[in-house]
Amino acid sequence: MNAFKQMAEMGHEQVAFFRNDDVGLRAIIAIHNTTLGPGLGGCRLYPYASEADALRDVLRLSRGMTYKASIAGLDLGGGKAVIIGDPGIKSEALFRAFGQAVQSLGGRYITAEDMNTNVEDMNNIHRETDFVTGGGQATGGSGDPSPVTAWGVFHGIRATLEVVFGSPDVRGRKVAIQGCGNVGRYLAGYLAEAGASLYYTDINGARVQRVIDQHGGVAIEGDEFYGLDVDVLAPCAVGGIINKHTIPLLKAPIICGGANNILNDEVPDGEALAEKGVTYGPDYVVNAGGLINVYSELKGYPRAKAMDDAANIFNTTKSIINKAKSEGITTIEAANHLAEARINAVAKLRSFHLG
Ligand SMILES: NC(=O)c1ccc[n+]([C@@H]2O[C@H](COP(=O)([O-])OP(=O)(O)OC[C@H]3O[C@@H](n4cnc5c(N)ncnc54)[C@H](O)[C@@H]3O)[C@@H](O)[C@H]2O)c1
Repeated sequence: MNAFKQMAEMGHEQVAFFRNDDVGLRAIIAIHNTTLGPGLGGCRLYPYASEADALRDVLRLSRGMTYKASIAGLDLGGGKAVIIGDPGIKSEALFRAFGQAVQSLGGRYITAEDMNTNVEDMNNIHRETDFVTGGGQATGGSGDPSPVTAWGVFHGIRATLEVVFGSPDVRGRKVAIQGCGNVGRYLAGYLAEAGASLYYTDINGARVQRVIDQHGGVAIEGDEFYGLDVDVLAPCAVGGIINKHTIPLLKAPIICGGANNILNDEVPDGEALAEKGVTYGPDYVVNAGGLINVYSELKGYPRAKAMDDAANIFNTTKSIINKAKSEGITTIEAANHLAEARINAVAKLRSFHLG
């Protein structure tokens, strides 16, 4: 697997492997960078085809968390965990064993929900460690972060609209949402309330129907999404969907959604979008609301403050797009440069010895 080589290439500090055969736990926790604070990131339960796939995923995801926390101005580093397993087979013991693994790192890593893990799983983790966020109220947790994530994405969309059309007003704008799960359906609610016309696709037809019943709008076929003649494409399902195959199909002037790793290959895909005149609201900038929410939980802030901070994604997104324009670079590069600059500046503070 060349673990050390991969860690060195991506700049990771630590990767820890955990097993407990009695409960079926095989987990990897990756801590990318703790310059700004403890590594925080969700725990993903997924039936990876191989251990190498699991390692690759946790390394990529934990690095992404470093950038997301930095650009959001939080005192957090980047970390992430994966449990290799069947999402259909969950148990209290599995998550308690994972909680023990988290506890053993002494606070260098703080966990939260991710794909296939939920509030109940966080509650079980909390039985073994305090280094967990996103549990239910009974454990002092802030629960499901997706309404805050979607609120941040909504403001990211408003920022891209302002840059492209001169006004952030959503009224009358056409937005297509791919993925009507937690983030997609809350985003649909905010957009519908602001007067947008909505189009939806999801591999689960019942989810599309649920969101149409709640907020109105039109169902589209999965393949129609990329070539749809709308103002905004909002990917809120899986990553890698903007790539060399889908970019030639695009008609929408804006891509801005909640999914992680929307661009399949950051540099060439970012450049191809820029050449085509498509404005891309960088994924980890606009979907930072969930992280902002769990950070609020750690700090003891009320949800109203998390919502206000997530709304500030409007300003962050706008300044990143403007930086990209003035420097002739892609929006994802502009975001990366700002995130790295903050980490490097804070790292220099450490050289000042406090007597
Ligand atoms: N939940 C959060 O707070 C949060 C925060 C940051 C980023 N994200 C990212 O946002 C995305 C969505 O997260 P979520 O919590 O809403 O997940 P979710 O599982 O609740 O919803 C995802 C939806 O996408 C659908 N889907 C899957 N593959 C699809 C495809 N190929 N085409 C169309 N639809 C498809 C699923 O059926 C599901 O309804 C993920 O990429 C996640 O990493 C979520």
